[in-house]
Amino acid sequence: MSETLPLSKPPFGKSSGLLVRQENPFNGGPDPRLLPGSSLTPNELFFVRNHGGIPEVDLGAFRLRVNGLVKRPLSLTLEEIRQLPRVTVAATLQCAGNRRLELMAVAPIPNELPWGTEAISTAEWTGVQLRDLLAAAEPRRRARHAAFTGLDEAERHGHRFNFGGSIPLEKAMGPEVLLAYEMNGEPLPPVHGAPLRVVVPGYIGARSVKWVSRIDLQEDPSDNYFQAKAYRLFPAGVGADTVDWDTGLMLGESPVNSVICAPGEGETLAAGPVAVRGWAMVGGGREVARVELSLDGGRTWTLASLDSGGDRWTWRQWDATFDLPAGRHEIVCRAWDSAAQTQPEHPAQVWNFKGYANNAWHRLSVTCA
Ligand code: MTE
Repeated sequence: MSETLPLSKPPFGKSSGLLVRQENPFNGGPDPRLLPGSSLTPNELFFVRNHGGIPEVDLGAFRLRVNGLVKRPLSLTLEEIRQLPRVTVAATLQCAGNRRLELMAVAPIPNELPWGTEAISTAEWTGVQLRDLLAAAEPRRRARHAAFTGLDEAERHGHRFNFGGSIPLEKAMGPEVLLAYEMNGEPLPPVHGAPLRVVVPGYIGARSVKWVSRIDLQEDPSDNYFQAKAYRLFPAGVGADTVDWDTGLMLGESPVNSVICAPGEGETLAAGPVAVRGWAMVGGGREVARVELSLDGGRTWTLASLDSGGDRWTWRQWDATFDLPAGRHEIVCRAWDSAAQTQPEHPAQVWNFKGYANNAWHRLSVTCA
């Protein structure tokens, strides 16, 4: 895996199984070969995507404020939030920049993180349903979007500001959208947004705002840089010098995607039966319906076995075994979702200058001896 940093022991309680893409702000994700076998990702391996530093939060003084188009603005302590009914939801978070490295091989994407396939992980999140809070605040009829603001600060184009983003109010009222204070049964770690983060299953990870301290109901999506400019999808011909930021598509639901985790790219294996394993994922509450593998560049396909799944908002793990003779083999995978949508063949078909939402067929090569 190219362009990772050789840190002997990553910070923030993370394991050395993390591929670190950037030290400051800290960004990294689990070595894909460690993922098969367990559908939950342990906290020390869970990927981290930070745009700024990790804020120090005074828990005693902390208040979550709910404002904007509401009849009853709220200002709640952590204790008050914890008194609301406690809910656990298993959900996969995937960064919209996952698999950007393959887009970078098509054409340069400067100033963005070179994620391989590791900007994705799954946890059981525990907290309160956002809709319980919003019901208490009594949204006004004009409210269409829930905008979240975190306590961390990022710097872009000479300005410092808090990270933020929004989701449509209709999504915010879904039972799966949480304000989480626990992750995999442990208190939410600081690097993942303690004391409180939003978890928006089925949406790109950027909407799951960490260290959330403000929720505003409003008519329009958030005007935060990370909603209004970044995390938008532009046509292939648009670049940093020609972009009209308002014309990008705001990313929300993740498209269907799948990746081979094992064997790893370039591995040499014994000829004979080879187990191929990976994950498939789709946003928007659709289901992964099928995963297919090809050994001949996509002319013929073999169905992989999907794990029993069962959680609507998590990836599905899959596996298949091939009898591989000696020689070099390219293995290709693609998934289909319950809306009969599948993945495009080449990264060039989805290239965009910010490097988002690459869901092209995933390919890797191995040699059997
Ligand atoms: N929230 C804040 N406050 N600051 C951030 O930098 N990054 C977002 C989102 N929430 C971010 C944030 C992005 S792009 C992703 S993919 C997810 O957090 C990653 O969550 P994780 O670091 O817990 O894996």
